[in-house]
Formats: sequence, C-alpha cells, structure tokens
Amino acid sequence: MCGIVGYIGTREAAPLLLGGLHRLEYRGYDSAGIALLNGGLPFMKQKGSVAELQKAFDASPARMLGATIGIGHTRWATHGDPSDRNAHPHLNAQEDIAVIHNGIIENYSVLKQELQGEGYHFQSDTDSEVLVQLIDRIWKIDPSLSLEAVVRAALRHVEGAYGVCVISPRDPDKIVVARKGSPLVIGIGEGEYFIASDAAPIVEHTNRVVYLSDGEMAVITRSGYQVRTIENVAMEKDITELDFSLEKIEKGGYEHFMLKEIFEQPDVMHDVMRGRVRTEEGRVVLGGIEDYLDRLKQARRIVICACGTSWHAGLIGEYLIEDFARIPVEVDYASEFRYRNPIIGPDDVVIVISQSGETADTLAALRAAKEKGAMVMGICNVVGSTIARETMCGIYTHAGPEVGVASTKAFTAQVIVLYMLALALSKGRTISHDEMRLSLKELSKVPEHAAKILELDSQIQQIADDYKDARNFLYLGRGYNFPVALEGALKLKEISYIHAEGYPAAEMKHGPIALIDEDMPVVVIATRDSSYQKILSNIEEVRSRKGRVIAIASEGDTEVARLAEHVIYIPQASAQIMPLLTVIPLQLLSYHIATLRGCNVDRPRNLAKSVTVE
Ligand code: G6P
Repeated sequence: MCGIVGYIGTREAAPLLLGGLHRLEYRGYDSAGIALLNGGLPFMKQKGSVAELQKAFDASPARMLGATIGIGHTRWATHGDPSDRNAHPHLNAQEDIAVIHNGIIENYSVLKQELQGEGYHFQSDTDSEVLVQLIDRIWKIDPSLSLEAVVRAALRHVEGAYGVCVISPRDPDKIVVARKGSPLVIGIGEGEYFIASDAAPIVEHTNRVVYLSDGEMAVITRSGYQVRTIENVAMEKDITELDFSLEKIEKGGYEHFMLKEIFEQPDVMHDVMRGRVRTEEGRVVLGGIEDYLDRLKQARRIVICACGTSWHAGLIGEYLIEDFARIPVEVDYASEFRYRNPIIGPDDVVIVISQSGETADTLAALRAAKEKGAMVMGICNVVGSTIARETMCGIYTHAGPEVGVASTKAFTAQVIVLYMLALALSKGRTISHDEMRLSLKELSKVPEHAAKILELDSQIQQIADDYKDARNFLYLGRGYNFPVALEGALKLKEISYIHAEGYPAAEMKHGPIALIDEDMPVVVIATRDSSYQKILSNIEEVRSRKGRVIAIASEGDTEVARLAEHVIYIPQASAQIMPLLTVIPLQLLSYHIATLRGCNVDRPRNLAKSVTVE
C-alpha cells in the first residue's frame, strides 16, 4: 500500500527523500510528507501527489535544509480520508517524535481510547497516529530510554501489520525501523544508508540491500546498522545484491502490474479479512457498517449497483446475501438504474460497489437512491473517494492501489467483503453459531487455496499458447460460477481484444450453441457443487459439436478430464467460496493470451481505470 523512504548519511536528505517518494508513488498517491533532523524536527505533509509536495518544498525550503537524516511517506489511505492532517509523518504534541507507518493497526481504536482517556489529543483519523502517542507516553514515563527502546516498548501494545520508521531530536543521529507484515529494505551505501518499503527508491544509489523479516527492528546510524528482533534478540542479516531494472522493481519483479496484482491476491485476501473475521468467536466485525447493521438486516430489499467488474462482484453478492441472509437482492447496472425510474424507497438498501469510488454512473445511481430515501452503503477500494464520502456507511476493500486497468485483486477483495457482509447479515437470524464458524473457517482458507492456484501459472501459460489465435471464446458457468464466467469473458476481451461471451451454461442451448464448432474454445467452470452433473451434460453438448473445452475442475475429478481437452484443477471448497478460486485461472488465462498476442495488458486500448464520465 503506502510507500516509505528514509535516509541517513552526509548528503542533504530532503531532495533524496523526495526523489525516493517519486519512485514509490505507484504504491499510493493521495498524500505525502517528510520529516527531517537538523537540530530540530522540521516536517512537511499535505494532501496530493509527491509533485505537489516537491513544489511546496521548493517554495519554502529554508527550514528544511541542512538535514542529513530524514524519513518520508506517500500514502494510500486506509483509515481516514486523504487530507493534510491524515498525511504522514505523524508527530506528538511537542513535535519532537516523527513516525511514518505502512500497514493497519487493528487494535488502534482501543489504544486511542486509552490514550485519549489520559489526555492525549489526536490530530488525525489514522490508525498510525496511536504509534507516536504510545511512544510519547512511554518516553514520558522513562526519559532515559533510547529511541529503539521506546519504539520496542510501543510495538508490544500493537496488533496488526506495520512497517515503521521513527526519528527524534531527543535521540538524534539514528533512524529506528521495524517490520511486521509490511516490507522494509535497508540500502547500504558508502557512509550512508537508505530505507524503503521496497527497493525502487534504493536501486539508483546502491545495489546492496538487507531485507528485514517480520518481527525485526533495526537501528541505523551513519556508521552502520544493527538488526534485532522486536523481543531484542540480535540477528545476523545477509546482504543481497540487487540485479533489477528500476521498472521491474516497481512492478515487484513482475513483467506487468496486472500479473503482480494477480499474484498479490493471497496477501490482499488476508488484508481484507484482517481484524474482521473472528472465526473462533463466530462473528464478523465490520466497523464501517456497525451502526447500520440492524437497518441493513431489516431491509425489505437490497439493490446492488455497480459497473464492469464490480457489477460481477455484485452478482456474486446477490447469491451470497440471498443464500446466507435470506434478504431479497437485485443487481443493477448503475447506468440502467439511474435512468429507469426504479421503485425504491426508505425500506430499501442500495449498495454501490466501486474499486475507484469515482465511477460516474455508480455515483449517479447512489445519488438517485439517496434522493428516493433509500439507505446507501458503499463497498470501495479507494479511501476517501467520492462514493466513499457520499454513502452513509460502508466497507473498504483494502486491496491496495490497483494499477492494471483490468481489475483483478479488487474483484476478489470485493467478493470477500460481500461474503463477510452476507454473514454479518445472517448472524442471529438465518444461520447457527456453528454454521457461522464453519463458513468463516472456509473463508480463512481462501488465501492458501489462492496461493496454490497461482502455482498453476505455467500450465495456464501453455494452454494460452494453444488458444492465442482464437477469434472468439465462450465462458460457461452455473450458480455461483455464472458471474465468474462473465468476469472471465470480460477479462479476455478487455486485454486481448478477442471477442468473448459469458453465459449461464444451461442458457447456451438457447443461442450460443449455434456458434460452436472446432474453432470455438469454450471455458467451462465445472467444479463439484449441486449443478455439477448438469454442467457435465453441458460439456457433452459442446463436445458433440466439436467445441474445444478448457475446464476448471475440482482437484481429483477424473470425469471432467475424460471430456475436456484441458483441465485446470483447483482445490475443492464450498459453492459460496468457489468464485474466489475459479476466477484466478481465468485472470491468468486472459493475461497470458494477451501478452502472447503482444497486447499492452496494463493499459488496454480505449479503456480507462476510472470512468468518470457517463
Ligand atoms: C472501468 C474499469 C473496470 C472497472 C469499471 C468499474 O471500466 O476498466 O476495470 O470494473 O470501470 O470501476 P469501479 O472503479 O467503479 O469499480
């Protein structure tokens, strides 16, 4: 998500930090800031891009000059909208401790309440600010402690994920960093050291780096660095020699952002669930809708509005909410909803789903629903986006910035949110405590299953090679896998420019069957669920017309192998979980077909990441 940089050495720090932040902007770009040590602790932070921060710096650099130690941050908001006060670094009231943080502090609200009870005033809405206040509290109790000792003590109170950098004129000439769940790299130069959330800002200065592992801290001075665990056990670290091009590093070593984002999915799935899925307690905690949960449960009807891939997630949401919570759901294209005078009123809930939170049609649908008195809820990825601000309540997907125009990780994150929402709506109404725990257990296994499916990448690439010259594709699925068929077809047409259609498998015989011949590849999602036998019959129908079948099937299924030309096996899971798994091979198939055809997968022709016009 966000980007971190740090510098300690003999050169002027501010320009180096700003340069590093430019390199990291692909990770987050809604606000940025730097803090420096030059006797005092001057800092600048503001909403907007790194270029805007650079402009502000150029206009008034005097107090920011003369520092050879500093830290910087470019933010992708998770808690609190993008604004000057939510930008990092965060400082204590005396402005003599500066902290930057990546990740999510899960128990921040408890810690914040505690600190507020002791008279601490918070300047921001972020989870990150609790860190600086905690450090301040510990230092007040024992001012003789070193910076690393107070940081270590503060981190003992913190649950969740972090990559943190801390500086203070009270213990100058060092930077203290720590990592748990959010990456940190130390770059080793000649008499100088660099810190960053990935190697992108480091590689132009040095190719010698040390990667911190989870649970490790480092104290970096001009004369060296020391790594210890958070429990204070000394660690020996290997130095890695980087041999990457800059562009590759920004893409995390992947050829394209889309591929990187597909492969990020197991981690993203963890992020979406973090702190929310409480399997043992048999409950889901969704802070953003807590106050509205009763109203949601009493809804006469839920209407989901979205566009593109988000609309496909909405279709899966319909199945999930009706299945688990037994509340009637309708799914509308946002563009249709706004223009068809829908029957909607105060007993209805309208859920808008949008990765960007800026899609013009979805925003207009939300406003139309509000005007008609409906309760409006959002599921968005971009914190502080217009849709997130205009809805009454909502759930963020926490998928991190999605750069590839074709949505991948944002989709799976949306489906996980909808699964959690469906369960939250069922609690105490339609499912028992045991069923709840079972469903949550299934959900928590998804990242592991997803990682296993990603191992099939080279098999899928080979299949893609066989079909890269096809002119048409048909995608078939039933039940929960029908929206996945639509999403698979959309992915393929978006990035490879091959015409593709998704269809409910049984509907095929009412039209598309006329198209099937030996030149028509048909992707069939045939996992074991209640319609499994029926989908086998559909495969037979395709085969007897010489169609070439690529099947997505459950592990160990030999029957499908008999019928299909290619089978991609995925782990078995419940029908409700399946879309999260079956979509991954389809994302990879589209990706490989498109790259084999030489298409620009990250920026497909005519498309935009965020469609802010109707
Ligand atoms: C564009 C993008 C799609 C996206 C759709 C909806 O068409 O190319 O990937 O699914 O907009 O965007 P949203 O940000 O509202 O989810």
